[in-house]
Amino acid sequence: LLTTVAALAFSAAAASAQTVGFSQIGSESGWRAAETTLTKQQAEERGIDLKFSDAQQKQENQIAAIRAFVAQGVDAILLAPVVATGWDSALEEAKDAEIPVILLDRQVDSSDDLYLTAVGSNLVHEGEVAGGWLVDTVGDKDCRVVELQGTTGSSPAIDRATGFRNAIDGHSNIEIVRSQTGDFTRSQGKEVMESFLQAENGGADICALYAHNDDMAVGAIQAIKEAGLKPGSDILVVAIDGVPDFFQAMAAGETNATVELTPNMAGPAFDALAAYWKDGTMPPKFIQTESKLYTQADDPKGEYERRKGLGY
Ligand code: AHR
Repeated sequence: LLTTVAALAFSAAAASAQTVGFSQIGSESGWRAAETTLTKQQAEERGIDLKFSDAQQKQENQIAAIRAFVAQGVDAILLAPVVATGWDSALEEAKDAEIPVILLDRQVDSSDDLYLTAVGSNLVHEGEVAGGWLVDTVGDKDCRVVELQGTTGSSPAIDRATGFRNAIDGHSNIEIVRSQTGDFTRSQGKEVMESFLQAENGGADICALYAHNDDMAVGAIQAIKEAGLKPGSDILVVAIDGVPDFFQAMAAGETNATVELTPNMAGPAFDALAAYWKDGTMPPKFIQTESKLYTQADDPKGEYERRKGLGY
């Protein structure tokens, strides 16, 4: 009976234009804004009616949005969860209403039977790639690193910190001397970097900056320049995302390396939903996107131009 009811529900959803609720975190970074643009584009191309909700960085707004989507009876929910914990009740309510939820770009601590699938990168691996680049670049040289962390309690902040530490583990010449959140924003990246520079002999004692996203790094390089130092050479800059502004700075020699995170999480999510709506096909619990390292050797000017056409 369950199979018949499910098949009827799938074909009913497939027959009419589907409505999908998207609870987005906010617009803290260029990457996030691009993800929003691409999700809207992808929905339009597929004839999906997308209900967009901007949570302005607040989990309570995301939970309220999920509840509103459930009350409206949407066909699916996309959730980019601002932090990792505290989602059980809202996800259970969606599950009870038989509304599939797909996580975008960040993970939650809830049981994975509360969502259909998660689309995103291996966030620990991203940190490992960034740390591995630094290990290879500095060799035996002593290197004091400052770290700009992402939003406290978010899965990328937790995992990118872990991954970087995994990579430098065993390399006693590399040491993280200061670490603070910049909340994934350009303005806080600059502000926190100013305090790092002040505390580290005007920046003379800093060898490298590791930022959990490109926007914080772009803010930080402004602070480095204002302190009279050259980002990219006096202080190495490695981050994650691959946004155009970071590549523009890289082309000018002011940043060194970034690990790309695609902002097109919605494409794979809508593909998974299409198959699920058609005949109940269950996607894997994790649909992993690629994490590619880009350095100054990878045509940063060309990468900047290519990205400008991609929804950024
Ligand atoms: O969850 C992905 C991260 O969130 C991106 O790296 C960052 O730019 C964004 O705000």
